[in-house]
Amino acid sequence: MILKAHAKINLLLNVMGIRLDGYHELETIMQTLELHDILEISEAPNIEIDITGADLPTGPENLAYKAAALLREYSGYTRGIKIKLYKHIPLAAGLAGGSSDAAAVLNGLNQYWNLKIKPKELASLGAKIGSDIPFCLQGGTALVRGRGEIVSPVKHHLPPLGVVLVKPLFGVSTAQIYRLFDQVTNPFHPDYRGMLKAIERNDLVGFIKYLGNSLEPVTISLHPEIIKIKKEISNAGAIGTLMSGSGPTVFGLFENLSSAEQAAEKINMDSYWVKATCFC
Ligand code: C5P
Repeated sequence: MILKAHAKINLLLNVMGIRLDGYHELETIMQTLELHDILEISEAPNIEIDITGADLPTGPENLAYKAAALLREYSGYTRGIKIKLYKHIPLAAGLAGGSSDAAAVLNGLNQYWNLKIKPKELASLGAKIGSDIPFCLQGGTALVRGRGEIVSPVKHHLPPLGVVLVKPLFGVSTAQIYRLFDQVTNPFHPDYRGMLKAIERNDLVGFIKYLGNSLEPVTISLHPEIIKIKKEISNAGAIGTLMSGSGPTVFGLFENLSSAEQAAEKINMDSYWVKATCFC
C-alpha cells in the first residue's frame, strides 16, 4: 500500500498561556500542502523502517515507528509492518513532516490491518505522540485549538493558492522556541476570528491581512535571517509571507501554483531549500 503524508503550514498561529500539562493553549489555522512524503507499507514480522532522502533514526524514536507501535499495542494486532519512507518534507522545519508521516501510518495501518478504529479514537492516539497529528489525520483547512487536539474543518472557496517555501540550512527546536516565547513580555496575538470571517467571505485580500504567528518574532530573535527570507519572497511577488509553526521555514502565498513556480525560480539564497507547491 502506498500512502502520502502531506506537509502543513500555519496560516495563523496564536499561542496563549501554558496549560497544566506543560503545553501551550493554541488557536491556529492549518493548511495542508500538496508537498508530501511517500510511505510504502508491506507485511513484515516486526516493525521495520527504511528511510530514503533524510538522515533520521529508524528505531523506536522515529514518529512513524511510534505510530505503528502504538496502534499495534492499542489494537492487540500481533503482526509487524515494513515502512519504506521517502522523505521530501525537510526536517525540523515547521512543516509537520514527522507528524504527517505518523498520521499517514495511523490512517494507513487502520485500513491495512482492517482495525476499524474510529477517526476520533485515532486522533486521541495520535495526540499522544505529537500535537500536530490530529490535524494531519484530517488535512485540508482547519481551525485547531487546545494543545492541537480540537480540530474543526474550515469550509471555504478560496482558490488553491500557490505557495513558495524557503527553509534556511538550520532547523529549530520547537520546545526551545516555546520556552523563549514564555519569556516575551508583550507577545503578539493574531486574530483567528478575523481570518475565518475573511475566508468565509471569500475575501483573499482580507485573509492575507490576518496572516500572523506569535512565534515568528521569537524565532527571528534567534535567527534574523528569517526577515531577509521574507523580503526575498515578497520581492519575488508573494501576496503575503509568514513563518510556519516554530519555523524556520517561511512561506509566501501566490495566486496559483504556476506563479509560485515562477517565483521559486527567482529565489536564490545561500543554497537554502526552496520549493513551490500549493494548497490541497
Ligand atoms: O507535541 P510535539 O512533540 O509536536 O511538541 C513539541 C514541543 O512543542 C513540546 O515539547 C512543547 O515544548 C511545544 N508545544 C507546546 N504547546 C503545544 C504544542 C507544542 O508547548 N500546544
